[in-house]
Amino acid sequence: MEFRHLGRSGLMVSEISYGNWITHGSQVEEDAAKQCVQAALDEGITTFDTADVYAGTKAEEVLGRALKGVRRESLEIFTKVYWPTGPGKNDRGLSRKHIFESIHGSLRRLQTDYVDLYQAHRFDYETPLEETLKTFDDLVRQGKVLYIGVSEWTAEQIGRALKIADEMGFDRLVSNQPQYSMLWRVIESEVVPLSEKEGVGQIVWSPIAQGVLTGKYLPGQQAPEGSRATDKTGGAMIARFMRDDVLTRVQELKPIAADLGLSMAQLAVAWVLQNPNVSSAIVGATRPEQVRDNVKAAGVKLDADVLKKIDDVLGDVVERDASKTASPSSRP
Ligand SMILES: NC(=O)c1ccc[n+]([C@@H]2O[C@H](COP(=O)([O-])OP(=O)(O)OC[C@H]3O[C@@H](n4cnc5c(N)ncnc54)[C@H](OP(=O)(O)O)[C@@H]3O)[C@@H](O)[C@H]2O)c1
Repeated sequence: MEFRHLGRSGLMVSEISYGNWITHGSQVEEDAAKQCVQAALDEGITTFDTADVYAGTKAEEVLGRALKGVRRESLEIFTKVYWPTGPGKNDRGLSRKHIFESIHGSLRRLQTDYVDLYQAHRFDYETPLEETLKTFDDLVRQGKVLYIGVSEWTAEQIGRALKIADEMGFDRLVSNQPQYSMLWRVIESEVVPLSEKEGVGQIVWSPIAQGVLTGKYLPGQQAPEGSRATDKTGGAMIARFMRDDVLTRVQELKPIAADLGLSMAQLAVAWVLQNPNVSSAIVGATRPEQVRDNVKAAGVKLDADVLKKIDDVLGDVVERDASKTASPSSRP
């Protein structure tokens, strides 16, 4: 495994991290979840990403149990707050009340005294930004949270938060967690340039486009049994890539991966890691073999001519529109 700084902070994270959205507590059973976490640890992954909302809070419990007994100092545990965790109007968003209640629940479920990174899972238009940032800062002072970050915020929102933090003396954001893959490059024109200037690192999600970039979904054919495209929650999210034009172009990447001696998943993960603003690529897995496959992308260098070949193959199926970085206009 290779390690990178989380943005301009002193924290080192594994270049490839393991995330348990829709897998732990939902798509896969506890034993399989534990095996994936063990495979991740065996392969040198030290960074684990989850969220209060995953599997209706069960994902944090599963991760907490799977990491029990592992030396805490050898791990970086990331979680998030924003999406609803209960039926009440205050069980969501980035108000002082919900953030405090949510972190206490997360710490209990994860069986830890602190999380290394606490992330605002989306931007909350119904809470003053100062209220959220002051609350995050309080959590840092209390030692419950070591670093703070956001997810899917626009460049304008990140910039505004950094300005407030500087003016008020609050802890600065060190990371953003956006979707990023060969197929989804919407952060490149605005979020990445601002982040590079401000020392904010990207911890990118769905680097394999939820499995699509493995090439296992074939155009015009049914998705393989048990794959994410057949899952109730996952199926809705992956649908944006399950078009014949996208799946056909992805098949054409196979010779590029083969020439490099890489699996398709490794090529996809290595591709996001070529961007120096990326601190870590979060991979998901339903089976330990997938973790073992994907981690081999750590440290892989792709030459400019390989990157060009990939661009030529994918052509106009790549999404680049910066306006696709968005949060709900009102709380979910
Ligand atoms: N901040 C956010 O809003 C946000 C949103 C989404 C995700 N995330 C984070 O990012 C993490 C990763 O997202 P993701 O799970 O969508 O990432 P991903 O790595 O793009 O996709 C993972 C899925 O692809 C399939 N797969 C992975 N490796 C494979 C391999 N070698 N061969 C064949 N299939 C393979 C598996 O699904 P099947 O076996 O079921 O096909 C696996 O669950 C999440 O767990 C979460 O921590 C954050």
